[in-house]
Amino acid sequence: MKVGIRTPLGILLAVTLMAAGAVRAEPPSLRKQGDATQLVANGKPFLIIGGELGNSSASSEAFMAPHWAKLRAMHLNTVLAPVAWEQMEPTEGKFDWTLLDSMLKAARANDLKLVLLWFGAWKNSMSTYVPAWVKRDQKRFTRAALPDGRGVEILSAFAPEMLKADQKAFAAVLAHLKAVDDKDNTVLMVQVENEIGMLPVARDYGPLANAAFAQPVPAELVNYLTAHKDSLTPAMRKMWLDRGAKSRGSWTELFGEGDAAAEVFTAWHYARFADELARAGKAAYALPLYVNVALNRPGRAPGEYPSGGPLPHLLDVWKAGAPNIDLIAPDIYFPNFAQLLDVYHRPDNPLFLPEANGAGTATVPANALFAIGAHDAIGFSPFSIDSIDDKPGALAQSYDLLSQLEPFILAAQGRGKMAGFKPRQSYDGSLDFAPDVRTLGDYRFTIAYADIQRPEANADTANYGGMIIQTGPEDYLIAGQGITVTFEPVKGGSAGIDSAFEGRFESGKWMAGRLLNGDQTHQGRHIRLEPGKWQIQKIRLYSYK
Ligand code: DGJ
Repeated sequence: MKVGIRTPLGILLAVTLMAAGAVRAEPPSLRKQGDATQLVANGKPFLIIGGELGNSSASSEAFMAPHWAKLRAMHLNTVLAPVAWEQMEPTEGKFDWTLLDSMLKAARANDLKLVLLWFGAWKNSMSTYVPAWVKRDQKRFTRAALPDGRGVEILSAFAPEMLKADQKAFAAVLAHLKAVDDKDNTVLMVQVENEIGMLPVARDYGPLANAAFAQPVPAELVNYLTAHKDSLTPAMRKMWLDRGAKSRGSWTELFGEGDAAAEVFTAWHYARFADELARAGKAAYALPLYVNVALNRPGRAPGEYPSGGPLPHLLDVWKAGAPNIDLIAPDIYFPNFAQLLDVYHRPDNPLFLPEANGAGTATVPANALFAIGAHDAIGFSPFSIDSIDDKPGALAQSYDLLSQLEPFILAAQGRGKMAGFKPRQSYDGSLDFAPDVRTLGDYRFTIAYADIQRPEANADTANYGGMIIQTGPEDYLIAGQGITVTFEPVKGGSAGIDSAFEGRFESGKWMAGRLLNGDQTHQGRHIRLEPGKWQIQKIRLYSYK
């Protein structure tokens, strides 16, 4: 049937189309809910249950072809994928979007979102992802230099042509995304460069860098430190306040001799570069942008680790220098995961974990529930995810729980209705088995880590953990493995189990399994999520005197 615009159906169609056209495409954004920051995509809060591809995987459409469906099957909703400058702009000014477009198409076909990693001027400090026309033109694109003048394979942040060329390419990528993706919101965020930082010395010693180092500390940095005097990181307090909180002077006068001043200087200039890149990108398409961090091992000198990156002791410098960067995201390959989350989760820094250890690491599945449950993380993503998608093991199980719980997590974020827990681990790997206590609503929960009596099970205990979400006055969802949970009313008296079910959410609907009682709850004394079996229990408590 031909539908003329004057028929009732035709009018309805025209009105609907007009209404659809009137809906403005909005890029993904960050929005406050309570004291949390949420990522919003397609107009709704979104939780990144993610994984980052190996560095070279996304360089080939054919290589990636079999992986997309496997990643979706292991319950990922987002893939973090590199976009290499050398492949996007192989000839200056001529962009090739074939690879990027194929990635968007594959992600959409598999119901996956993307976070793109801009491997531009720097990737793990080095400048190996820049196009050959940049690499080979040492006159225009100055290299960073060692104290003896020798160049390194790191382009200098002080070369104006470098920033211009990187900005142009980055803005072109963002403009392309706006053109092809602003209605779909397939791309959620973009990472600016990768693990920025100077190696193997604390700063660039080339002529441009030396000239900048001879200048006084910029007023913008001093003004920031002054305005945030009471909330500076302990390390910055020590460096700047202990030296008299000077408001003008050289880098050495304000921050100390040698590597200390050199590293603050490096951090400031890297932050400014990243900020300028972000500003140009956002002008094209205002996606949330972040930088990731190569964390430093204790006791090492700047240059032995990437000097001047957005490290714990330099967070104030980066916040001052890069206001267009929405968040600083730690890559955590060390065991002291919980301690590092305390550092990077701040009122001005929502938590995102782009590289939460290698995907196959045994602590990763519990860390995912912990980061999201305890820190309102907007997303979690271990590294080299495509290397385990044939045998994802426990990660697929914990991601299955997270994807079932996603609506409850998003509703609870920032509202004091969610807790996450796992045994705390130190940098040296030692574990603190002490039970954790969390209060949600009218009940206080004590979470003990099962098998803590068996020293031989210690290795496994590091992998235990979970989360509790309050869904009603006396209703809770408990998810995880290896935990035993007891409870008491906050206002006194005792608490008992009204009901405890195992089960799962299918398309948001609870499908109850066994009603747990008797031995399964120790005759009503506790809720137990046994080791090795990732699960959700839906419980209702009651109190008595
Ligand atoms: C951290 C980097 O950010 C990644 O791109 C990758 O190189 C890993 N290290 C390898 O462990």
